[in-house]
Amino acid sequence: MNRTRTIFYDCDTGIDDAMTLLYLASRIRAGAVDLAGVGTVHGNVDPLTGALNTLRVLELAGIQEGVPVAVGAARPVAQDVHYAADWHGTDGLGDTHLPEPAGRPVAEPAAALLVRLARAMPGELTVLATGPLTNLGAALLLDPELPSLVREVVVMGGAFDHPGNITTHAEANIWHDPEAADLVFAADWPVLLVPLDATHPTAVHGDWLDRLAAHDTAAARFAVRVLSFYVDAYTPVLRNRGAVIHDALAAMLMLEPELGEYAQRAVRVELRGKLTRGTTVWDARSLPAADTRRPVRVAVGGDVPAFHERLLSALTSL
Ligand code: BDR
Ligand code: CA
Repeated sequence: MNRTRTIFYDCDTGIDDAMTLLYLASRIRAGAVDLAGVGTVHGNVDPLTGALNTLRVLELAGIQEGVPVAVGAARPVAQDVHYAADWHGTDGLGDTHLPEPAGRPVAEPAAALLVRLARAMPGELTVLATGPLTNLGAALLLDPELPSLVREVVVMGGAFDHPGNITTHAEANIWHDPEAADLVFAADWPVLLVPLDATHPTAVHGDWLDRLAAHDTAAARFAVRVLSFYVDAYTPVLRNRGAVIHDALAAMLMLEPELGEYAQRAVRVELRGKLTRGTTVWDARSLPAADTRRPVRVAVGGDVPAFHERLLSALTSL
């Protein structure tokens, strides 16, 4: 059996997206991942900034060529665009304002690249999405056959028995484009959803950050530098020096599902609530659920020490 997963990574790079790119780069080196393409979307920053950040990180990791990076949707379907400068800096990389990358994004829009790659390798492509789901929603509208062409969709987003992180109830990636997210959960494809309930318990803290800082490689120095902004933003929330590297958990559960615990839920996105727009909901009654929507595999917990060790090992192996 071919143990290499072929991935399309859709992101809004973004500090934890950047850590995820480094994690994926380590898995590429190990032969576990073939990164077929990257799409960027509005979210933490605008999608061109996210694409340039993606190129910066890939180049830092020694992945200079062969991975098309495509700019995607610059705004959500049905609301205004918002960025996350307080969490990721105005440049998305903790206000480090790094030099321009050598490479440039490709001309093709992200949704078109995703559809083209999925059609070229039916049943092989896994889509990892760690930003708002506008590009995936657009790709579903572009090609109604897409669900039958994709092996799996892995999404970081949502919150069930956990407070929201952008409104009282909603998680940022879903809240940034609730209509697109609901299209993704409505489609007939296998979805693994990694919500705040699973990511928050994996927060890294002082000892982990100190161990990372003890490594003097270019990738580790970069990670320490950009994470310092993120840690400053997270420390008041966690009441402890630390940060939640949400997106990397989704990538790790995609490659090593045995590290997670899961529940099957037919997930919907609240689109109209004044206080709850952008919240992920499911029918939790013990009656046979009336919802006929295809259930999503939702991560509800996992092996936190393994996540910490494997992420640290990836970030320091480049
Ligand atoms: C998600 O929101 C973004 O700020 C992060 O990059 C992550 O994808 C967490 O809610
Ligand atoms: Ca993200």
